Amino acid sequence: MILREKLLTVFEKEMGNYVSGEELSRKLGVSRTAVWKQVSKLRELGYRIDGTTRSGYRYLGPPDILYPREVRRGLNTRFFGKEVLHFQRVGSTNQVALELARKGYPEGTLVVAEEQTAGRGRWRRPWLAPPGKALLFSLVLRPSLVPYRVPEVTLVTGASVARAIHEHTGLRVGIKWPNDLLYEGKKLCGILVEMEAAAEQVNYLVLGIGINVNQERDDFPPELQDTATSLRMILGEKVLRLPLLQRLLEILEDDYQEYCRDGFAPSRERWLGYQVTLGRRVRISVGGKEFSGEAAGVAEDGSLLLRLPGGDLISCNSGEVVL
Ligand code: BTN
Repeated sequence: MILREKLLTVFEKEMGNYVSGEELSRKLGVSRTAVWKQVSKLRELGYRIDGTTRSGYRYLGPPDILYPREVRRGLNTRFFGKEVLHFQRVGSTNQVALELARKGYPEGTLVVAEEQTAGRGRWRRPWLAPPGKALLFSLVLRPSLVPYRVPEVTLVTGASVARAIHEHTGLRVGIKWPNDLLYEGKKLCGILVEMEAAAEQVNYLVLGIGINVNQERDDFPPELQDTATSLRMILGEKVLRLPLLQRLLEILEDDYQEYCRDGFAPSRERWLGYQVTLGRRVRISVGGKEFSGEAAGVAEDGSLLLRLPGGDLISCNSGEVVL
Protein backbone atom coordinates (compact mmCIF):
# COMPACT_ATOMS: atom_id res chain seq x y z
CA MET A 1 0.00 0.00 0.00
CA ILE A 2 1.43 3.38 -0.84
CA LEU A 3 1.93 5.89 1.93
CA ARG A 4 -0.94 8.16 0.90
CA GLU A 5 -3.31 5.23 0.95
CA LYS A 6 -2.11 4.19 4.41
CA LEU A 7 -2.53 7.73 5.67
CA LEU A 8 -6.09 7.89 4.36
CA THR A 9 -6.88 4.59 6.05
CA VAL A 10 -5.67 5.96 9.39
CA PHE A 11 -7.59 9.20 8.82
CA GLU A 12 -10.77 7.31 7.99
CA LYS A 13 -10.57 5.39 11.28
CA GLU A 14 -10.10 8.68 13.11
CA MET A 15 -12.65 10.67 11.08
CA GLY A 16 -13.42 14.00 12.79
CA ASN A 17 -10.76 13.56 15.52
CA TYR A 18 -7.42 15.33 15.77
CA VAL A 19 -4.43 13.04 15.33
CA SER A 20 -0.98 14.46 16.04
CA GLY A 21 1.69 14.52 13.34
CA GLU A 22 3.84 12.51 15.71
CA GLU A 23 1.29 9.74 16.11
CA LEU A 24 0.80 9.60 12.35
CA SER A 25 4.52 9.41 11.74
CA ARG A 26 4.82 6.58 14.28
CA LYS A 27 1.84 4.64 12.87
CA LEU A 28 3.09 4.96 9.31
CA GLY A 29 6.77 4.52 10.09
CA VAL A 30 7.81 7.71 8.27
CA SER A 31 9.02 11.20 9.27
CA ARG A 32 6.63 14.00 10.21
CA THR A 33 7.77 15.84 7.10
CA ALA A 34 6.74 12.89 4.98
CA VAL A 35 3.31 12.95 6.67
CA TRP A 36 3.00 16.67 6.07
CA LYS A 37 3.88 16.22 2.38
CA GLN A 38 1.17 13.61 1.96
CA VAL A 39 -1.36 15.78 3.82
CA SER A 40 -0.53 18.63 1.41
CA LYS A 41 -0.96 16.33 -1.56
CA LEU A 42 -4.31 15.07 -0.27
CA ARG A 43 -5.47 18.64 0.25
CA GLU A 44 -4.46 19.44 -3.34
CA LEU A 45 -6.64 16.55 -4.43
CA GLY A 46 -9.54 18.09 -2.54
CA TYR A 47 -9.55 15.94 0.61
CA ARG A 48 -10.75 17.97 3.57
CA ILE A 49 -8.14 17.98 6.32
CA ASP A 50 -7.99 20.58 9.09
CA GLY A 51 -5.03 21.48 11.23
CA THR A 52 -1.25 21.73 11.08
CA THR A 53 1.77 19.63 12.03
CA ARG A 54 1.74 21.53 15.31
CA SER A 55 -1.96 21.09 16.22
CA GLY A 56 -2.37 17.69 14.62
CA TYR A 57 -4.65 16.89 11.71
CA ARG A 58 -8.37 16.30 11.59
CA TYR A 59 -9.82 14.41 8.62
CA LEU A 60 -13.22 15.69 7.51
CA GLY A 61 -13.81 13.58 4.43
CA PRO A 62 -13.12 13.12 0.73
CA PRO A 63 -14.03 15.65 -1.93
CA ASP A 64 -17.05 15.10 -4.15
CA ILE A 65 -14.75 14.00 -6.93
CA LEU A 66 -15.27 10.57 -8.40
CA TYR A 67 -11.83 9.15 -7.56
CA PRO A 68 -11.74 5.37 -8.08
CA ARG A 69 -10.76 4.78 -4.47
CA GLU A 70 -13.75 6.71 -3.18
CA VAL A 71 -16.16 5.15 -5.68
CA ARG A 72 -15.06 1.65 -4.60
CA ARG A 73 -15.03 2.39 -0.89
CA GLY A 74 -18.21 1.10 0.68
CA LEU A 75 -19.65 0.15 -2.70
CA ASN A 76 -21.88 -2.86 -2.25
CA THR A 77 -21.73 -4.53 -5.67
CA ARG A 78 -20.34 -7.78 -7.01
CA PHE A 79 -18.84 -6.52 -10.25
CA PHE A 80 -20.14 -3.06 -11.20
CA GLY A 81 -17.47 -0.49 -10.40
CA LYS A 82 -14.84 -2.98 -9.25
CA GLU A 83 -12.64 -1.65 -12.03
CA VAL A 84 -12.87 2.16 -12.20
CA LEU A 85 -11.15 4.57 -14.58
CA HIS A 86 -11.48 8.23 -13.69
CA PHE A 87 -10.72 11.13 -16.00
CA GLN A 88 -10.55 14.77 -15.11
CA ARG A 89 -11.22 15.46 -18.78
CA VAL A 90 -11.93 13.03 -21.60
CA GLY A 91 -13.63 13.03 -25.00
CA SER A 92 -16.51 10.72 -24.18
CA THR A 93 -16.73 8.09 -21.43
CA ASN A 94 -18.77 5.96 -23.85
CA GLN A 95 -15.94 6.08 -26.38
CA VAL A 96 -13.36 5.09 -23.76
CA ALA A 97 -15.58 2.29 -22.46
CA LEU A 98 -16.11 0.96 -26.00
CA GLU A 99 -12.34 0.81 -26.47
CA LEU A 100 -11.83 -0.92 -23.12
CA ALA A 101 -14.60 -3.41 -23.91
CA ARG A 102 -12.92 -4.19 -27.23
CA LYS A 103 -9.68 -4.83 -25.35
CA GLY A 104 -11.47 -7.32 -23.10
CA TYR A 105 -12.08 -5.33 -19.91
CA PRO A 106 -14.57 -7.16 -17.70
CA GLU A 107 -18.26 -6.59 -17.26
CA GLY A 108 -18.93 -3.80 -14.81
CA THR A 109 -15.85 -1.74 -15.75
CA LEU A 110 -16.74 1.85 -14.98
CA VAL A 111 -15.44 4.90 -16.82
CA VAL A 112 -16.22 8.17 -15.12
CA ALA A 113 -15.28 11.74 -16.00
CA GLU A 114 -15.48 15.15 -14.41
CA GLU A 115 -15.68 16.69 -17.87
CA GLN A 116 -16.26 15.48 -21.43
CA THR A 117 -15.05 17.39 -24.47
CA ALA A 118 -17.00 15.28 -26.96
CA GLY A 119 -19.87 13.90 -24.86
CA ARG A 120 -22.46 12.34 -27.07
CA GLY A 121 -26.20 11.96 -26.80
CA ARG A 122 -28.80 10.08 -28.78
CA TRP A 123 -29.33 11.00 -32.42
CA ARG A 124 -25.72 12.17 -32.67
CA ARG A 125 -26.42 15.19 -30.51
CA PRO A 126 -23.69 16.54 -28.26
CA TRP A 127 -24.05 16.09 -24.50
CA LEU A 128 -22.74 19.10 -22.65
CA ALA A 129 -21.93 19.58 -18.98
CA PRO A 130 -19.55 21.90 -17.13
CA PRO A 131 -16.64 20.29 -15.24
CA GLY A 132 -17.42 18.62 -11.93
CA LYS A 133 -21.13 19.35 -11.90
CA ALA A 134 -22.73 16.37 -13.61
CA LEU A 135 -22.47 12.61 -13.25
CA LEU A 136 -20.96 11.37 -16.51
CA PHE A 137 -20.15 7.71 -16.71
CA SER A 138 -20.24 4.55 -18.78
CA LEU A 139 -20.33 0.87 -17.88
CA VAL A 140 -19.09 -2.08 -19.90
CA LEU A 141 -21.69 -4.87 -20.10
CA ARG A 142 -21.44 -8.29 -21.68
CA PRO A 143 -24.95 -9.69 -21.69
CA SER A 144 -25.80 -12.78 -23.64
CA LEU A 145 -28.35 -11.08 -25.84
CA VAL A 146 -29.58 -10.85 -29.41
CA PRO A 147 -29.13 -7.31 -30.74
CA TYR A 148 -32.84 -6.55 -31.18
CA ARG A 149 -33.35 -6.90 -27.40
CA VAL A 150 -30.84 -4.16 -26.56
CA PRO A 151 -33.52 -1.44 -26.33
CA GLU A 152 -34.86 -3.34 -23.30
CA VAL A 153 -31.59 -2.65 -21.49
CA THR A 154 -32.09 1.08 -21.92
CA LEU A 155 -35.52 0.83 -20.30
CA VAL A 156 -34.12 -1.29 -17.46
CA THR A 157 -31.53 1.43 -16.91
CA GLY A 158 -34.04 4.28 -16.95
CA ALA A 159 -36.03 2.67 -14.15
CA SER A 160 -32.84 2.03 -12.13
CA VAL A 161 -31.74 5.66 -12.43
CA ALA A 162 -35.20 6.90 -11.47
CA ARG A 163 -35.11 4.74 -8.35
CA ALA A 164 -31.59 5.83 -7.38
CA ILE A 165 -32.54 9.49 -7.74
CA HIS A 166 -35.62 8.91 -5.63
CA GLU A 167 -33.64 7.16 -2.89
CA HIS A 168 -30.88 9.77 -2.89
CA THR A 169 -32.98 12.93 -3.10
CA GLY A 170 -36.61 11.99 -2.45
CA LEU A 171 -37.56 13.31 -5.91
CA ARG A 172 -39.99 11.39 -8.08
CA VAL A 173 -38.79 11.76 -11.62
CA GLY A 174 -40.73 10.63 -14.67
CA ILE A 175 -39.50 8.63 -17.65
CA LYS A 176 -40.37 9.72 -21.16
CA TRP A 177 -40.22 6.70 -23.47
CA PRO A 178 -37.78 5.20 -23.94
CA ASN A 179 -35.43 6.57 -21.31
CA ASP A 180 -35.34 10.33 -20.84
CA LEU A 181 -35.66 11.21 -17.18
CA LEU A 182 -37.75 14.31 -16.69
CA TYR A 183 -38.78 16.49 -13.82
CA GLU A 184 -41.79 18.70 -14.50
CA GLY A 185 -41.19 18.12 -18.19
CA LYS A 186 -37.51 19.15 -18.12
CA LYS A 187 -34.69 16.79 -18.89
CA LEU A 188 -32.61 15.64 -15.95
CA CYS A 189 -30.78 12.64 -17.32
CA GLY A 190 -29.99 10.94 -20.60
CA ILE A 191 -28.97 7.37 -21.35
CA LEU A 192 -27.05 6.26 -24.41
CA VAL A 193 -26.47 2.57 -25.06
CA GLU A 194 -23.92 1.68 -27.71
CA MET A 195 -22.93 -1.78 -28.80
CA GLU A 196 -20.71 -4.02 -30.80
CA ALA A 197 -22.65 -6.95 -32.17
CA ALA A 198 -22.74 -9.62 -34.82
CA ALA A 199 -26.07 -10.55 -36.44
CA GLU A 200 -27.05 -12.99 -33.70
CA GLN A 201 -25.15 -11.94 -30.64
CA VAL A 202 -24.13 -8.83 -28.76
CA ASN A 203 -20.39 -8.84 -28.10
CA TYR A 204 -20.55 -6.01 -25.62
CA LEU A 205 -22.63 -3.03 -24.66
CA VAL A 206 -21.68 0.30 -23.23
CA LEU A 207 -24.22 1.95 -21.03
CA GLY A 208 -23.63 5.69 -20.87
CA ILE A 209 -25.44 7.81 -18.33
CA GLY A 210 -25.40 11.57 -17.90
CA ILE A 211 -27.22 13.06 -14.90
CA ASN A 212 -27.54 16.79 -14.41
CA VAL A 213 -26.63 17.09 -10.75
CA ASN A 214 -25.24 20.48 -9.75
CA GLN A 215 -25.67 22.66 -12.82
CA GLU A 216 -27.30 26.05 -12.46
CA ARG A 217 -29.57 27.44 -15.16
CA ASP A 218 -26.69 29.44 -16.70
CA ASP A 219 -24.57 26.31 -17.02
CA PHE A 220 -26.84 25.10 -19.81
CA PRO A 221 -26.53 26.58 -23.29
CA PRO A 222 -29.30 29.16 -23.91
CA GLU A 223 -31.25 26.85 -26.21
CA LEU A 224 -31.53 24.25 -23.42
CA GLN A 225 -32.26 26.56 -20.50
CA ASP A 226 -36.02 26.07 -20.76
CA THR A 227 -35.93 22.34 -21.36
CA ALA A 228 -33.15 21.07 -19.08
CA THR A 229 -32.89 20.97 -15.32
CA SER A 230 -30.62 19.62 -12.59
CA LEU A 231 -31.09 18.11 -9.13
CA ARG A 232 -29.61 21.26 -7.63
CA MET A 233 -32.01 23.53 -9.51
CA ILE A 234 -34.96 21.43 -8.33
CA LEU A 235 -33.86 21.02 -4.71
CA GLY A 236 -32.25 24.41 -4.24
CA GLU A 237 -29.10 22.89 -2.77
CA LYS A 238 -25.95 21.11 -3.85
CA VAL A 239 -26.22 17.36 -4.21
CA LEU A 240 -23.32 14.96 -3.55
CA ARG A 241 -22.48 12.99 -6.67
CA LEU A 242 -20.39 10.25 -5.09
CA PRO A 243 -23.11 8.58 -2.96
CA LEU A 244 -25.59 9.00 -5.82
CA LEU A 245 -23.22 7.19 -8.17
CA GLN A 246 -22.61 4.42 -5.63
CA ARG A 247 -26.29 3.82 -4.94
CA LEU A 248 -27.02 3.89 -8.66
CA LEU A 249 -24.35 1.26 -9.35
CA GLU A 250 -25.85 -0.99 -6.68
CA ILE A 251 -29.39 -0.64 -8.02
CA LEU A 252 -28.26 -1.00 -11.62
CA GLU A 253 -26.34 -4.16 -10.88
CA ASP A 254 -29.34 -5.74 -9.11
CA ASP A 255 -31.73 -4.76 -11.89
CA TYR A 256 -29.35 -5.85 -14.64
CA GLN A 257 -28.76 -9.22 -13.01
CA GLU A 258 -32.50 -9.70 -12.60
CA TYR A 259 -32.96 -8.79 -16.27
CA CYS A 260 -30.32 -11.32 -17.36
CA ARG A 261 -31.89 -14.01 -15.16
CA ASP A 262 -35.65 -13.38 -15.43
CA GLY A 263 -36.03 -11.41 -18.66
CA PHE A 264 -37.60 -8.01 -19.24
CA ALA A 265 -41.02 -8.44 -17.56
CA PRO A 266 -40.07 -7.37 -13.98
CA SER A 267 -38.17 -4.30 -15.23
CA ARG A 268 -41.04 -3.41 -17.54
CA GLU A 269 -43.36 -3.30 -14.51
CA ARG A 270 -40.96 -0.98 -12.67
CA TRP A 271 -40.55 1.19 -15.75
CA LEU A 272 -44.35 1.52 -16.02
CA GLY A 273 -44.36 2.88 -12.48
CA TYR A 274 -42.22 5.85 -13.55
CA GLN A 275 -43.32 6.51 -17.13
CA VAL A 276 -45.07 9.77 -18.08
CA THR A 277 -45.73 9.02 -21.77
CA LEU A 278 -48.67 6.64 -21.90
CA GLY A 279 -52.16 7.96 -22.39
CA ARG A 280 -50.86 11.19 -23.89
CA ARG A 281 -50.96 12.56 -27.40
CA VAL A 282 -47.42 12.48 -28.74
CA ARG A 283 -45.41 12.98 -31.85
CA ILE A 284 -42.69 10.52 -32.63
CA SER A 285 -40.04 10.66 -35.30
CA VAL A 286 -38.81 7.29 -36.44
CA GLY A 287 -36.19 7.02 -39.16
CA GLY A 288 -37.01 10.42 -40.69
CA LYS A 289 -40.81 9.89 -40.56
CA GLU A 290 -43.14 11.61 -38.12
CA PHE A 291 -46.22 10.06 -36.58
CA SER A 292 -48.77 11.60 -34.24
CA GLY A 293 -51.16 9.73 -32.07
CA GLU A 294 -51.84 8.48 -28.58
CA ALA A 295 -49.11 6.64 -26.72
CA ALA A 296 -51.26 3.60 -26.02
CA GLY A 297 -48.89 1.20 -24.34
CA VAL A 298 -45.50 -0.41 -24.13
CA ALA A 299 -45.15 -3.85 -25.65
CA GLU A 300 -43.48 -6.77 -23.91
CA ASP A 301 -40.21 -5.93 -25.64
CA GLY A 302 -40.35 -2.27 -24.60
CA SER A 303 -41.56 -0.89 -27.95
CA LEU A 304 -43.93 2.05 -27.83
CA LEU A 305 -47.43 1.32 -29.14
CA LEU A 306 -48.87 4.34 -30.88
CA ARG A 307 -52.55 4.60 -31.77
CA LEU A 308 -52.87 6.60 -34.98
CA PRO A 309 -55.86 8.92 -35.51
CA GLY A 310 -57.54 6.28 -37.73
CA GLY A 311 -57.33 3.76 -34.88
CA ASP A 312 -54.44 1.66 -36.23
CA LEU A 313 -51.80 0.63 -33.73
CA ILE A 314 -48.15 0.84 -34.72
CA SER A 315 -45.19 -0.38 -32.74
CA CYS A 316 -42.02 1.76 -32.55
CA ASN A 317 -38.86 0.20 -31.16
CA SER A 318 -36.87 3.42 -31.36
CA GLY A 319 -37.60 7.05 -31.96
CA GLU A 320 -37.74 10.48 -30.40
CA VAL A 321 -40.98 11.32 -28.62
CA VAL A 322 -42.29 14.87 -28.27
CA LEU A 323 -44.90 15.12 -25.55
C1 BTN B 1 -29.32 11.42 -24.51
O1 BTN B 1 -29.19 11.97 -25.62
O2 BTN B 1 -30.32 11.61 -23.84
C2 BTN B 1 -28.25 10.50 -23.98
C3 BTN B 1 -27.15 11.25 -23.31
C4 BTN B 1 -26.08 10.34 -22.73
C5 BTN B 1 -24.92 11.13 -22.16
C6 BTN B 1 -23.92 10.29 -21.43
S1 BTN B 1 -22.78 11.25 -20.51
C7 BTN B 1 -21.79 9.87 -20.19
C8 BTN B 1 -21.79 9.04 -21.45
N1 BTN B 1 -20.72 9.48 -22.35
C9 BTN B 1 -21.21 10.02 -23.46
O3 BTN B 1 -20.51 10.50 -24.37
N2 BTN B 1 -22.53 10.00 -23.45
C10 BTN B 1 -23.06 9.37 -22.26
